[in-house]
Amino acid sequence: MDERLRGDLPLQPRRDLRPLPDHRRTAGPVRPTRAGAGGAGRHPSHLRTDPGQPAPAWPGRRPVHEPGPGQHPDHPRAVGANALVHATLVDPGDHVVAVVPTYQQHYSIPDSYGARVDLLTLREENGWLPDLDELDHLVTPDTKLIAVNDPNNPTGALIDEAGLSRIAKTADQVGAWVLCDEVYRGVDQDGDGFTASIADLYERGISTGSMSKPFSLAGLRLGWIAGLTTLLRAVATHRDYTTISVGRVDDLLACVALENKDAVLARSHHITRTNLAILDEWVSSRNDITYVKPASGTTALLRYHAPIGSYEFCTRLLQETGVMFTPGAAFDIEHTVRIGFADDTETLRTGLKLVGQFLDQLTQA
Ligand SMILES: Cc1ncc(COP(=O)(O)O)c(C=O)c1O
Repeated sequence: MDERLRGDLPLQPRRDLRPLPDHRRTAGPVRPTRAGAGGAGRHPSHLRTDPGQPAPAWPGRRPVHEPGPGQHPDHPRAVGANALVHATLVDPGDHVVAVVPTYQQHYSIPDSYGARVDLLTLREENGWLPDLDELDHLVTPDTKLIAVNDPNNPTGALIDEAGLSRIAKTADQVGAWVLCDEVYRGVDQDGDGFTASIADLYERGISTGSMSKPFSLAGLRLGWIAGLTTLLRAVATHRDYTTISVGRVDDLLACVALENKDAVLARSHHITRTNLAILDEWVSSRNDITYVKPASGTTALLRYHAPIGSYEFCTRLLQETGVMFTPGAAFDIEHTVRIGFADDTETLRTGLKLVGQFLDQLTQA
């Protein structure tokens, strides 16, 4: 963070807040939360923390998240949930390890709080999966938090249960928390679409998610955190300064979606699986594009061979064809572009055709 800004900001944060209890002393049995929609509108008690009501199956592979008291699972989207976890856990001087590329908040927010941030860079030659031996080297006895993102944006790479367990083991050796941004969890290319969740694997594992991606309801701006009850109570203190409650309309519509999650997720699986097959066929048909085929998520990084930078590539592509990609340079991965492939199938087909024509022109120029 810009030093000037840091100095100017009147918010020397969190001195007036209750400190997070020392998790090493207070960590009790795992009390992960159900990520439910909260609010006063329709009061969907069966989706909330009413112990008198049977809990619906949480849309994960294993419905292990049990509701408990004192939870505030409703947050302004995953972006709000992530920000609250960082605000709760990270203090100046803390050591944080974050994977890159990922959502910027996972390394920039800790950095802005004065934490020492080490980056674990995902590499194409590893299928964009984290090198867990490298993680072992980056993690030190004073590491407070490891921030990962599974499934990953922008690459669509998926850390499997064994990988997550290994990350948990590394974290456990030093008592670190693992924040896993699981906003894309639910649209794996195989099976029921749900891979393991860190909150089910590790006591200090924290999972964040939202209605935005697999549920296709980004407009609801509603997300959640699953983790230890002690952590959630500390998060709730911060949340009271920013959110208090989510909107009743968002709450209501999220409940409708969760009550019909099988149909909503079936639609998402159909779109993401059909469209990735189309993208895959297109990539195979081109000798100027390569990629690591995503195992999950809705985005992929395409490596192109044209000798221009990715900002120029994307700007010209947008101007000349109307197709918009994100330049890989935004992730420090030059000569790549990020494609989102979960639009409607005809739009994808049309867009790929236009990109193909654009690439052909680049080759001829
Ligand atoms: C990795 C990751 N985390 C969090 C978010 C934010 O999700 P939400 O829309 O629920 O705030 C995104 C959105 O693109 C994302 O890609």
